[in-house]
Amino acid sequence: MGLKFKVRVPGTSANIGVGYDCLGVALDYLLELEVEESDKIEFLENGAPFSIPIEENLIFEAIKYTEKHLVKNIPSYKVNVIKNEIPIARGLGSSSSAIVAGIMIANKFAGSPLDINKIAKLAVDMEGHPDNVVPAIFGGMVLAAHDKEKVAYSTLLNSDDLYFYVMIPDFQLSTEKARSVLPKSYLVSDAINNMSKLGLLVNAFNKGEYENLRFLLGDKLHQPYRFVLINNSEKIFEASEKYGALGEYISGAGPTLISLNHDNDEFLENMKEELGKFSDKWTIEKKRINLKGAEIFDEETV
Ligand code: HSE
Repeated sequence: MGLKFKVRVPGTSANIGVGYDCLGVALDYLLELEVEESDKIEFLENGAPFSIPIEENLIFEAIKYTEKHLVKNIPSYKVNVIKNEIPIARGLGSSSSAIVAGIMIANKFAGSPLDINKIAKLAVDMEGHPDNVVPAIFGGMVLAAHDKEKVAYSTLLNSDDLYFYVMIPDFQLSTEKARSVLPKSYLVSDAINNMSKLGLLVNAFNKGEYENLRFLLGDKLHQPYRFVLINNSEKIFEASEKYGALGEYISGAGPTLISLNHDNDEFLENMKEELGKFSDKWTIEKKRINLKGAEIFDEETV
C-alpha cells in the first residue's frame, strides 16, 4: 500500500517593475507531477529518464531540504513530470516551481505536518527571496517581506481585467548573471523612487486604476542595469508603448519581457509583427493570473 498523488505549481513573474525581490504574480504556466511511493528514488519526464542528473534536480534538493524539517522519515518515491509549461531560465519561475513542488511532496509523504506558512518560509529560505515562491504557493499577485524568522505576505485583489503579454526570447539568462550586474549600494533617491512607486502600484492594482501603470513600473533598482543583457529590450518596450499597452517590465531576472494590457488581440498581433523584426527569435502569448497556486490533487492509496 502506498500513497499516490499529483502536484501542480504555476509559473510566476517576479518584481513587476518596482517590486524588486518582493512582488510577484502567478501566471497560467503549469508544472505538473505525478508522485508515488516506490522502492527507489526515481525522477522521470513523461515516463522517460529525467534529462538532468539527480544532484542537479531542484525538486530532489527541495525534498531533501524539507526532510530536515520533518520529524518523520519519508518513503522512497517516483516523481514523473507530466507537464512542464514553464520555460527554463527565462524569468518565469521555473526554479521556484520545482522548489515548491519538492517541499509539498516531502510534506505530503510525512502526513502534512507543515502548514502553508511554514511551507512558504522553507521555500523563501531555499530560494533566498520571496517574489517567485510565495505567489507560486498562494496564486494571485502577492507582496511579501521576509527576514530570518518570518515571512509576511499579502495577496492583492485580483486584477481580472489585466492581461500579461509574455514575450520570451530564444536565449536564456541566469538569475545569477542578472543579479551580478546590480550595484552593491544605491542612491537614497533611487530607493525612494521605488518605495513610493511600489506603494502606488499596489494601490493601482487593487483599485483596477491603470492610467499611471507605465510610470509606476519605472524601476531604478534592477531594470536599468539589466536592459543590456536582453537584446532589443528597450526597443520592445517602445513598440509596446506605441501599440497602446498600459506598461511594461522585465519578468523576474529576465530575459522575458511583459506588457500589461487589457484583452486586446490587435495589440498581440502588432507585437508579434514587431518581435519578428529582431534577429533573436521571440514568442509572445497572452496569459492571465493563476489564482489557484500550488495544489495536491488526485490523491489515492494504491
Ligand atoms: N527578484 C529576483 C531577481 C527574481 O530579479 O533577481 C529572480 O528569481
